[in-house]
Amino acid sequence: MTTNTQSRCPFEHLNNPELETKQIAETVELTVKLLDKRYPPPAQILRGVHPKAHGCVTGTFTINADIAPELQVGLFAEPGKQFDAFLRFSNAAALVGPDIDDTGKHGSRGMAIKVLAVGGEVITDDNGAHNQDFLMINQPVFAFANSKDYLRLDKVLDQQDDKADGFFAPLQLENPAITEEERRRILAYIEAEDITEEDIQRIKDSFKIIGEIQATPVANPLGVQYFSAAPFLFGSDRVMKFSAKPCSEVPPTDIPQPPTDNYLREALITAVNSNDALHFDFMLQVRSDSDDFGKDNESIENASSLWDEANYPFIKVARITIPTPQADITTKVNRAHCEQLAFTPWHALVEHQPIGSINRLRKSVYQASSEHRLKQKDFFVQCLEKFFKFLFG
Ligand code: HEM
Repeated sequence: MTTNTQSRCPFEHLNNPELETKQIAETVELTVKLLDKRYPPPAQILRGVHPKAHGCVTGTFTINADIAPELQVGLFAEPGKQFDAFLRFSNAAALVGPDIDDTGKHGSRGMAIKVLAVGGEVITDDNGAHNQDFLMINQPVFAFANSKDYLRLDKVLDQQDDKADGFFAPLQLENPAITEEERRRILAYIEAEDITEEDIQRIKDSFKIIGEIQATPVANPLGVQYFSAAPFLFGSDRVMKFSAKPCSEVPPTDIPQPPTDNYLREALITAVNSNDALHFDFMLQVRSDSDDFGKDNESIENASSLWDEANYPFIKVARITIPTPQADITTKVNRAHCEQLAFTPWHALVEHQPIGSINRLRKSVYQASSEHRLKQKDFFVQCLEKFFKFLFG
């Protein structure tokens, strides 16, 4: 893999680049550490986040023939151009589990598109290929604003057996029912982690977004709208967020009662084998540098900030088509291929460079996660190596 490190972004606002570099390095280290804890040998190492795939399908990504001239940028430069694509649908949860938890809470859902052989200049190639990946979740905002918050989340997961509740501990100070001892402990934690008043406001935002995710039922991965949440460049002088929205209702539309553990996978299999070809509109919100990006470029540097559709409407620029039927979705070969794929927002044309704190963090974290899981040797090979080491030292 080669990477073009030159930044072309006039929109980013880094208060303390050295601190961010340290935060990124620590998050990368924790990503690998958490993977090794979750998947001790001989378990197969899965993705650091989004390990559970509902399935992978093939499709096409076609630029709309009537795309407005001012939107003909980067991947969207040529009206009517069609690309082949792979799509992977997933649950965001760090561990593979039932699609709905035993308290009835829902999780974040993912859709990743790999648009193949896009030509042009890419920031990071995909095993030599020039592909453009679009990674999305079913919420227009990301629950963690920046690299400081995400690192603290990873530390909590590491220290508290993959449970995230401790991330919200500072909010307990507003709970009159906590004991003096608990209050002292939380205050000590706030001091140790250098959590400011501003940070506490963001923890409140994270709590609210996670509450919304847990209350959002999804019956079919092909039936909901997905969002980039984080921003990207759109050429050299504009920025974009993107979204994919189904063009029509896709059955099945209800969660089975009682829910089965893998109802999203079952719905995906049903949908790609019983409906006509499925379509998503791919849409962009585009802003220019003459817009007010707010204090400290909040709308770029904080991935939890919403770009209100009333001010920045989504504009259709392309269509994703998933041909049907795709019977091979259930085969071992398909599943193995799905595991071998590595998506990252940094598989991108230079015109669509990922920007903002969360995206800068994602660059080396996705690389560490995919390299760690894909370099894992077969269990048989691991045993042979240990045997020869035992014999010959
Ligand atoms: C706007 C924010 C984000 C969105 C929309 C997003 C979305 C996604 C999606 C859809 C996938 C699954 C890709 C696949 O199917 O292979 C994924 C994977 C992953 N995400 Fe994110 N994500 C976001 C932020 C983050 C952050 C902040 C981190 C950690 C720093 C992170 C770490 C990962 C990792 C480690 C993987 C698995 C990479 C691999 O092993 O191939 N994500 N993400």
